[in-house]
Amino acid sequence: MDTQALIAMLNNDLAEEHAAIIRYLVHAYLEGEDTPVGANMLSRAREEMWHMHWLGMIIGKLGGEPNMTPAKYPFDPTSRTTIFKSYVRYEEKLVPHYNGEAAKVDDPHIKRVLQREAWESAMHARKFQRLLGKLSPEMAAGQPGGEREVPEAFVERLQGLVASKYTEMLQHLRTAWVYQQTGIVGWQVMDFSMTKMKQLAHLAEPVAENAAEPRFKASKLDLSASIGQALERALEDVRASRAEHLKFQAEPETQRHAGLVINLDFTVQQEQYEAEEIEGWLEEV
Ligand SMILES: [Fe+2]
Ligand SMILES: [Fe+2]
Repeated sequence: MDTQALIAMLNNDLAEEHAAIIRYLVHAYLEGEDTPVGANMLSRAREEMWHMHWLGMIIGKLGGEPNMTPAKYPFDPTSRTTIFKSYVRYEEKLVPHYNGEAAKVDDPHIKRVLQREAWESAMHARKFQRLLGKLSPEMAAGQPGGEREVPEAFVERLQGLVASKYTEMLQHLRTAWVYQQTGIVGWQVMDFSMTKMKQLAHLAEPVAENAAEPRFKASKLDLSASIGQALERALEDVRASRAEHLKFQAEPETQRHAGLVINLDFTVQQEQYEAEEIEGWLEEV
């Protein structure tokens, strides 16, 4: 298989893993992370994050542009039973898919990654099947998600912040994968993408607690042609994000949610730290 065909194949897989992360994360947040089903979904989402990351690293190393647009995750939302059956079907289909791809590539690392994604998908199917079997009849017939307790406008405000932090996070993943050969900076950018995932969770959880699906919709990513450009953009973004979070934190409705106010305190201080660090790196690249 030539390199371009390999990149295209892996980019399809990247989009599928991305879709699985979003589906399982949204499900986890709708259940509540501190519930048995929510904790389980979160654990699956984390494993899908590894899958996406391994593929992203390979694509970047091959000189490809990672496809950061998620595929569609097909599922029947009627009840937890139909949802979990959809998950089992989805994961089971990936086993022959990834094994088939592994058979077509020669590179031992890529082959191993694809094989691992096959057997981890098989594990996921089994885990979902087991979880479904353990649900009470009431849970099995029900749907994830609670009731809305805050004004619609507040949920929309959070949704906007979710979308922009999600974009920023994806932007960092792209930079880390594409510029992995520039040395330590790539790894530091990856480190920040993980902080952004956590910040994203702080915004997405209250959305889901109010019966809405967090909106993981990115705006157009910046495909910077150099690490310097990518870092300048990252600095602009994190400063803008910090200013917006400070504004949001001071708004009257936000002030009514003490836990969110604390999480925003965390976030803006982390954003200040990140901005200062990036300023330092920009002097070195
Ligand atoms: Fe996966
Ligand atoms: Fe999976």
